[in-house]
Amino acid sequence: MLFKSVYYRELYNIRIVRMTKIKNICCIGAGYVGGPTMAVIAHKCPDIKVTIVDLNAERIAAWNDEDVNNIPIYEPGLSDIVASARGRNLFFSTDVEKAIDEADMIFISVNTPTKTYGVGKGMAADLKYIELCARQIASVAKNDKIVVEKSTLPVRTAEAIKSILDNTGNGAKFQILSNPEFLAEGTAVEDLLRPDRVLIGGDTDEDGKEAINALVEVYANWIPGEKILTTNVWSSELSKLTANAFLAQRVSSINAMSELCEKTGADVNEVAKAIGMDSRIGSKFLKSSVGFGGSCFQKDILNLVYIAKSYGLDEVADYWEQVIIMNDHQKQRFASKVVKTLYNTVSGKKITFLGWAFKKDTNDTRESAAIYVADSLLNEQANITVYDPKVSETVIYRDLDYLESRKPEENRTGLEVANDAYEACRDAHAIAVLTEWDEFKTYDWQKIYDNMKKPAFVFDGRNILDGEKLEKIGFIFQGIGK
Ligand code: UDX
Ligand code: UDX
Repeated sequence: MLFKSVYYRELYNIRIVRMTKIKNICCIGAGYVGGPTMAVIAHKCPDIKVTIVDLNAERIAAWNDEDVNNIPIYEPGLSDIVASARGRNLFFSTDVEKAIDEADMIFISVNTPTKTYGVGKGMAADLKYIELCARQIASVAKNDKIVVEKSTLPVRTAEAIKSILDNTGNGAKFQILSNPEFLAEGTAVEDLLRPDRVLIGGDTDEDGKEAINALVEVYANWIPGEKILTTNVWSSELSKLTANAFLAQRVSSINAMSELCEKTGADVNEVAKAIGMDSRIGSKFLKSSVGFGGSCFQKDILNLVYIAKSYGLDEVADYWEQVIIMNDHQKQRFASKVVKTLYNTVSGKKITFLGWAFKKDTNDTRESAAIYVADSLLNEQANITVYDPKVSETVIYRDLDYLESRKPEENRTGLEVANDAYEACRDAHAIAVLTEWDEFKTYDWQKIYDNMKKPAFVFDGRNILDGEKLEKIGFIFQGIGK
């Protein structure tokens, strides 16, 4: 009987879900999301040809660099994955049209920055790159394609993409899927190899199901079926924004408590541990810090706030906006604490930043708290020296210049970049830890202390150092939330 019902169900499934086998994937956007995601797909699916294209020729050249250690994105384990597949079934190219033409499935993984002009300025996602991609796909495609949204997008963007494709194309049929990326930078390869879940949203009609199934089959090469979740398109798009909003909210929540801890004598690490052991709360994402950064949290919450406002849901919008307000406050509070502790002036004093990246194990600096703390301290005329194991001088100055707080020359006079942490700390009045790189924990802190101006201060914006040990050496030490 059981056998029979399974048999009928399978027959039924075969009848309603036609199978499209994907042979050729193109991904537009060779960034922090597109690059690692496609490299892992190629690595795990040797029968699928994966071509990643990007308008930025320099970036593509770096992905193709003979020495695989020179790929443009630093992620633990990524160069090995790229080495395993590059030239076999993984290709990087600037020939966008050829790759679109050849592909059965096209991932759009271009950036969607916060709008800097017009309606929704400072809040809404700027979808101009997405639209350009859709128009290009429509003009090139000669046969039916499945288009996958990988970029994080406002709800109902798939509808707009579909409308552009259907109205500007040459008669080819398109299915749009939403397949948001949940990888975190610094652990991207691990997150892609063993994700908590994969989410695929698509149309609920027969063609939609067929497209969803085609993508499920790709992931099924290495991900267990029960971890592949399928939903309608809008749920999928909104789930991505919601996941990032919830994660960021946890960081802002614990950071809010850190300020209260500092006033009351409680220790935020102890509070985090105590609440995290409640299985309903859970222990992850409760590390108090100088503030969250990264390309996603702020952008996605602003996007959510904008969507809520556009539906007249002011209470919903205000609720989520508070997560950003708290985060800005935390960065500002850190900078003010440095000034206040250094006897209310940092003018002409050397302050060394350990770390510039928005978190450890990445060379990405987008929205990093370090940028805003540096900007505040430069306003106070501090002399900053930065050491980060993976971030280049060019990127650091680009980040600061982007704020347009002062002339580029002034940023170069006020801030210098060092290649060696011990040299960076020499003659400093204070050290501020802005990124939680593991190597900072293993430094010879006695040696650092000996070469600093006294009293020597350490402000640990990530709570990674052993404060008691540092105080024994002679440092005046301040963590977050203690
Ligand atoms: C981006 C978005 O920020 C994120 O919201 C989304 O989830 C995935 O895409 P990321 O990969 O980190 O994330 O962005 P980025 O590293 O800037 O890469 C985007 C790439 O797209 C760039 O290399 C850019 O040159 C390329 N691009 C952009 C194109 O090839 N064509 C375009 O029209 C626009
Ligand atoms: C995030 C999401 O985690 C990921 O699922 C999504 O796809 C993209 O956005 P990412 O921004 O790469 O990933 O890194 P994440 O680990 O989430 O960290 C974001 C910021 O929060 C970092 O600045 C990090 O230092 C900070 N953070 C994180 C804390 O301050 N405390 C914590 O407990 C956790």
